[in-house]
Amino acid sequence: MVMFTPFLATTPSWDSYYEITKSINMPRPALLWALESLKYDPGLEKFALDLGCGTGRDTLYLLEKGWTVIALDNEPAGLLTLVEKSAALEDSVQKLIPYLGSFETDPFPQNLQLINASYALPFCQPQYFADVWQKIINSLDLNGRFVGQFFGPHDSWSKDSNMTFHSKEDLLQLLEPHFIIEYWGEEDRDGFTKEGEFKHWHIFHVVATKKPIF
Ligand SMILES: C[S@@+](CC[C@H](N)C(=O)[O-])C[C@H]1O[C@@H](n2cnc3c(N)ncnc32)[C@H](O)[C@@H]1O
Repeated sequence: MVMFTPFLATTPSWDSYYEITKSINMPRPALLWALESLKYDPGLEKFALDLGCGTGRDTLYLLEKGWTVIALDNEPAGLLTLVEKSAALEDSVQKLIPYLGSFETDPFPQNLQLINASYALPFCQPQYFADVWQKIINSLDLNGRFVGQFFGPHDSWSKDSNMTFHSKEDLLQLLEPHFIIEYWGEEDRDGFTKEGEFKHWHIFHVVATKKPIF
């Protein structure tokens, strides 16, 4: 018998994170970078999935830029804030598709031009990560973009068995068969969480384009 972990019931509360981030309206720099370099293609369809959207700082920016966005998160509170904030945007009702679901067990939409996963995939249950990564690959159109962060082995949270961590080598193995890496950044430094807790961050920032089939 296949047992599914009840993700909606077991995820930690993100309430304090949402309280702090709900007033941040700037999109994440990696997403900005990815959108800047897409500018050259005026005919591009604009259908995006924002994985682990939280209160939607990236989703809202994508909506403003004319994207249709499926905003997926397994926490209703983040999605509710996003829906409230999006009401101020013209056309957002048609273009925002809030999706209460989990990376691990829910299907992803197909024919996407962009998948954004800002600080989200490290919170995927490790035993499901390979399937989630395959869903990301399958859902993107050829030349579609992936934008997101992964946490590395030096991160303070790396002993958390409910989270997923990747070394640089792991990531290159995941990415290189399917993607052209457009942007790569690594942070390995002491710092603080949004809630003010001291920690060591080991973060990889990635923008990558799904390879065309030759
Ligand atoms: C660190 S927050 C990032 C939120 C937002 N992307 C940002 O950049 O501010 C991670 C988000 O991922 C969501 N999340 C974590 N695990 C998830 C899962 N298994 N399925 C769906 N969403 C998940 C959390 O609810 C949270 O909103």
